[in-house]
Amino acid sequence: MKSILEHITQRYSPYSFQDKKVTMEDLSTLLDAARRAPSSYNEQPWRFIYATRDNEEEWNRMLDILVPQNQEWAKKASILMLSVAKKTSIVTGKPNPYSFHDTGMALGNLLNQATSMGIYVHQMGGYDRSKAIENLNIPDEYQPVAMIALGYPDKSEKREETPRNSVESFTFKGSWK
Ligand SMILES: Cc1cc2nc3c(=O)[nH]c(=O)nc-3n(C[C@H](O)[C@H](O)[C@H](O)COP(=O)(O)O)c2cc1C
Repeated sequence: MKSILEHITQRYSPYSFQDKKVTMEDLSTLLDAARRAPSSYNEQPWRFIYATRDNEEEWNRMLDILVPQNQEWAKKASILMLSVAKKTSIVTGKPNPYSFHDTGMALGNLLNQATSMGIYVHQMGGYDRSKAIENLNIPDEYQPVAMIALGYPDKSEKREETPRNSVESFTFKGSWK
């Protein structure tokens, strides 16, 4: 079997970050990687709202959305973001069944690009969606997806290996068994 990309095997979701900023130039590179993701009808339904730690007002507004357990460690990240998906298809005018999927695709690109630059990403479902909509002025047409903490990881963080399912357990040849 061929070996898989190093950035995929190296990636993990850190709970501890160095006190080093992710620059705006590097953030632009990450968002450029996100922008190139495939999407249904090329609708590119993803949106990202971000705050950096050096803008206190924006940072606190974003941090406030997280559940306390996530706030505890995410407050040390360099950038906090929220991914947001456009609910309705521009092409069909109906709900877009792929909007979350495609937003995840964009995030996947961002995540791999980030790992290649030494920047690590920790996604979070533990946040208050209603608060996100209110605090960040998200229009009705859009739905919050995941909160994302970005930064340079503290490599001294003690980590257990995260268990993974075997390929056989989630892959079916021909039809579902
Ligand atoms: C959509 C999503 C939501 C998540 N929510 C949280 C969360 O609220 N808090 C947290 O500490 N980790 C959260 N995680 C991180 C996962 O727990 C983590 O990705 C998983 O355990 C695998 O570990 P790894 O990313 O280090 O390989 C989330 C990850 C994803 C993709």
